[in-house]
Amino acid sequence: MKLIDPASLGFLLLPFTQALQLPFGIPGSVQGIRSTLGASFKVPEFIKKFADPISTSPLYSLHRSLIEIPSVTGNEKGVGEWLAAYLMGKNFTVETQAVSEDRVNIFAYLGKNRTTHTLVTSHIDTVPPFIPYKATSNTIYGRGSNDAKGSVASQIIAVEELITEEVISEGDVSLLFVVGEETLGDGMKTANSLGPKWRAVIFGEPTENKLAVGHKGIVMFDVIAKGKASHSGYPQLGVNANSHLIEALYKIEHMILPKSDLLGESTINIGLIQGGVAANIVSPYASASVLIRLAGDLDETLEVIKKTVHGLPVELKFLGVTYGPQETDHDVENFETIICSYGTDVPNLHGDHKRYLYGPGSIFTAHSGNEYILKSDLTEAVAGYKRLIKESLWPTKRVPAIVDKVIKEETVIAPVSRSAIVGDKSS
Ligand SMILES: *[C@@H]1O[C@H](CO)[C@@H](O)[C@H](O)[C@H]1NC(C)=O
Ligand SMILES: *[C@@H]1O[C@H](CO)[C@@H](O)[C@H](O)[C@H]1NC(C)=O
Repeated sequence: MKLIDPASLGFLLLPFTQALQLPFGIPGSVQGIRSTLGASFKVPEFIKKFADPISTSPLYSLHRSLIEIPSVTGNEKGVGEWLAAYLMGKNFTVETQAVSEDRVNIFAYLGKNRTTHTLVTSHIDTVPPFIPYKATSNTIYGRGSNDAKGSVASQIIAVEELITEEVISEGDVSLLFVVGEETLGDGMKTANSLGPKWRAVIFGEPTENKLAVGHKGIVMFDVIAKGKASHSGYPQLGVNANSHLIEALYKIEHMILPKSDLLGESTINIGLIQGGVAANIVSPYASASVLIRLAGDLDETLEVIKKTVHGLPVELKFLGVTYGPQETDHDVENFETIICSYGTDVPNLHGDHKRYLYGPGSIFTAHSGNEYILKSDLTEAVAGYKRLIKESLWPTKRVPAIVDKVIKEETVIAPVSRSAIVGDKSS
């Protein structure tokens, strides 16, 4: 019997000495130890986990693989191919749906039934620029770590676990991962032609693992003023577009927009102003880009905007995506709720399904140069998605949909069988 086994001493030191030279010339990695001891030696699971917490976790390693493949909107080809192969490897039936050249949505389900009760969905594109993956003991950095590859990874693992636990089977849940969410929503808009109508759709976006009660709508427009250039010493010979724009923007910034009890106030951002040529020239042209996050009715809001600039010498040009506030379902017990001020793919998927919006990470770090997610938020999200999926299939207890009544009232509905729910349009 040896007094001290250098190899076991190496094990003890391993996690703390990754950057140090180990005593007795022991290599500082699991692989190195295995080769020191011969291939037959099995490294205990807890040592492996400690030495490499990412590779040994199905959740963290899936998340890492997704982040390591850059997928800024427009360039989702690589991540789409990788994800399709991953899901096929997990025995899902995988369909790819072309959105534009090279860019595909990934639709996956068990067996043959693509018209599942519940759809779990998120997006695989990110905002620019690509930021490489980096993990510390409790935080993971990188573009998409939060928005929305954190949601994608935890959704997939949640579904895999429910399958392994034999909680769900063919016909229950499908997965849809779309391109283009960060710009035009072209991925989700295209997904409308996939065919199936689902009963419930769980959207993944950073909601701090809280169930969203809804998110604001969006209206974007340019304000354009046209003038006539002249020498600044003879302003009467010209028309100053800048002056017209300033007057219009002042009114726009001070207009009173409709609000809502659920989502609060609308917000107005004059994000870009351009105009004029030089200080000594009367400005011939000026424009500004305005983005409104709507809490109130879309048509009423558009009416107010048009009235505000009525009679002023400016034109409005409405752009891109326009939609009203979105209310999402939050009738599931034991979730904290959150109101979101950002846009999602929720309005782009048509149908009268229940709509849940939930995911790990905070919108405050998404899109930033320091995008990150806590490892603990990812694991919590897996549990959250599992609970949401089960509740979408077999609701147990409902809370009323109006937030301020949640505290006062408690409507308890006895557990309902699956077939009863499927036939119940009001669910
Ligand atoms: C996939 O299905 C095959 C055949 O049914 C089975 O042998 C294999 O273990 C499954 N793989 C996974 C990852 O579930
Ligand atoms: C597919 O699944 C849905 C939802 O579970 C079910 O209503 C439908 O009957 C299934 N279709 C087939 C062909 O099994």
